[in-house]
Amino acid sequence: MEFAELVKNRYSCRAFSAKAVEPEKLEQVLEAGRLAPTATNAQPVRVLVLKSEDALTKMRGLTRMTYDAPVVLVVLYDTDVSWKATNYNDPFDAGDMDASIVATHLMLAAKSVGLDSLWARAFNAAEVGKAFGLPENVHVACIVDIGYADPEKGGPGPRHALRKDMAEFAKEI
Ligand SMILES: Cc1cc2nc3c(=O)[nH]c(=O)nc-3n(C[C@H](O)[C@H](O)[C@H](O)COP(=O)(O)O)c2cc1C
Repeated sequence: MEFAELVKNRYSCRAFSAKAVEPEKLEQVLEAGRLAPTATNAQPVRVLVLKSEDALTKMRGLTRMTYDAPVVLVVLYDTDVSWKATNYNDPFDAGDMDASIVATHLMLAAKSVGLDSLWARAFNAAEVGKAFGLPENVHVACIVDIGYADPEKGGPGPRHALRKDMAEFAKEI
């Protein structure tokens, strides 16, 4: 699929079928995440791959945003490792940005191999960290549900088609 078509076709899927994700496709998705850029190449991001019934049930108990996806990717970053910008009198932690780029790669790679996805952040990150035994310095940035869309209920939602027009989105100055 050409890139322009890929980004147009990706949408937030909120109904997945029970069809399993092929291991080679999951590997391609994770590889795209692994290759994502990170600030100073610090690579603070890790992905917990929830596939077992145990792990998925645990996650479903913490958020309804899993939508029965057969794979849930929990995107985390180590706050001890992420780049802390201290210059320009404008300090920030690049961890959330790094994790967001990884999650974007995961979503687009999923689409490129015929899978659908949902990026979700409607959960308590500390609760998720605790449930999966993560240390205090590891922050859960988001989850990315992965799977095949339910053929009947899995299409794009009403907000998918709503985008600002180009004149409002980008301004040449
Ligand atoms: C940072 C972020 C957090 C999001 N959190 C949720 C969420 O918790 N639950 C959900 O259903 N969708 C979530 N979404 C998906 C957005 O609602 C969705 O991308 C937006 O409405 C546009 O629709 P589309 O992805 O189908 O184009 C999130 C997206 C982003 C980027």
